[in-house]
Amino acid sequence: MVEIHSDWKRLLDALPSGIIIIDPEFNICYMNRTFTALWKIDDRQAIGKKCFDLFTGPLCHEIACPLNRISRGEDRIPYDEEQHCKCGSVSTCNVMVSALKDDAGRLTGIIESFTDASILKTTRTALVESSERLRKAMGGIIQAMSLTIEKRDPYTAGHQRRVAKLCRVIGTELGLGWECIQGLRMAAAIHDLGKINVPASILNKPGRLSEHEIAIIRQHPETAYEILKNIDFPWPITQAIHQHHERLDGSGYPRGLAGGEIILEARILAVADVAEAISSFRPYRQALGTETAMAELRNGRGVIYDPLIVDICLSLFETRGFDFNVKFFPRGSQTPHTN
Ligand SMILES: [Fe+2]
Repeated sequence: MVEIHSDWKRLLDALPSGIIIIDPEFNICYMNRTFTALWKIDDRQAIGKKCFDLFTGPLCHEIACPLNRISRGEDRIPYDEEQHCKCGSVSTCNVMVSALKDDAGRLTGIIESFTDASILKTTRTALVESSERLRKAMGGIIQAMSLTIEKRDPYTAGHQRRVAKLCRVIGTELGLGWECIQGLRMAAAIHDLGKINVPASILNKPGRLSEHEIAIIRQHPETAYEILKNIDFPWPITQAIHQHHERLDGSGYPRGLAGGEIILEARILAVADVAEAISSFRPYRQALGTETAMAELRNGRGVIYDPLIVDICLSLFETRGFDFNVKFFPRGSQTPHTN
């Protein structure tokens, strides 16, 4: 048995972590107060028992058991474990197992320090649930905005849905992370929000637009920016929408940004927007089809549109059979992208 001086016992009893000391034959020699409180155990009945007679864990009697590893020469092993006491109590703990050695380096005992991680685990679970609720609420608000536009202008709403689908696929093909794709999808779902300020007579005008009418339509990224600028989105949704008509060579609007001044999300949105807008029907013209849309992207590749994003878009439509109205499985995905 490992002998522990009474001064050391007093010191160990004052610690906030549970401490247990075991001899090299796995006999329990000492438990501090935090440990006995953590497992609701009476140390007078525990001292002298084998540790595996009192506690059970998935590694008990296994070669990977940290106590076995310490016996075989390891010095310090950190691990997290759900500890089950035979009295029925269970604790989730961060554990540190360390070797106790004499001056000659011989193993004289093993000390385990347990920090209760149950509160941390509960807090983490509550945080995850709360952020999931917020994410759903955010998605709901975006959908509500999109539906508001739909009530007024069905063409814009359908356009936004299809652009969001293409953005999601392009983002996946580019290897963007799930979080980034969520932001991109939401930006795309309301990217023409600013058209709420454009009279329906202009939006649905069947004929050619006057210069004044074009100027009014061109205000829509700025209008959207004004509507969204005070919302602290966890993604660059506002910037992506504000910049979706900017072009690589600086010829776009509203600010004439160029090259790297345009964020990636806006460059993806620009390509998807053009691909959908040209392919589909508009009140002032018939659908021009994907071939015309792809020709426009090819012409503007590297000049006004990001070349890599154009290449992905061309490959999607021309060799991989992407269709706005059909479920599509991006590379390596088991889940179809339907919107
Ligand atoms: Fe737009």
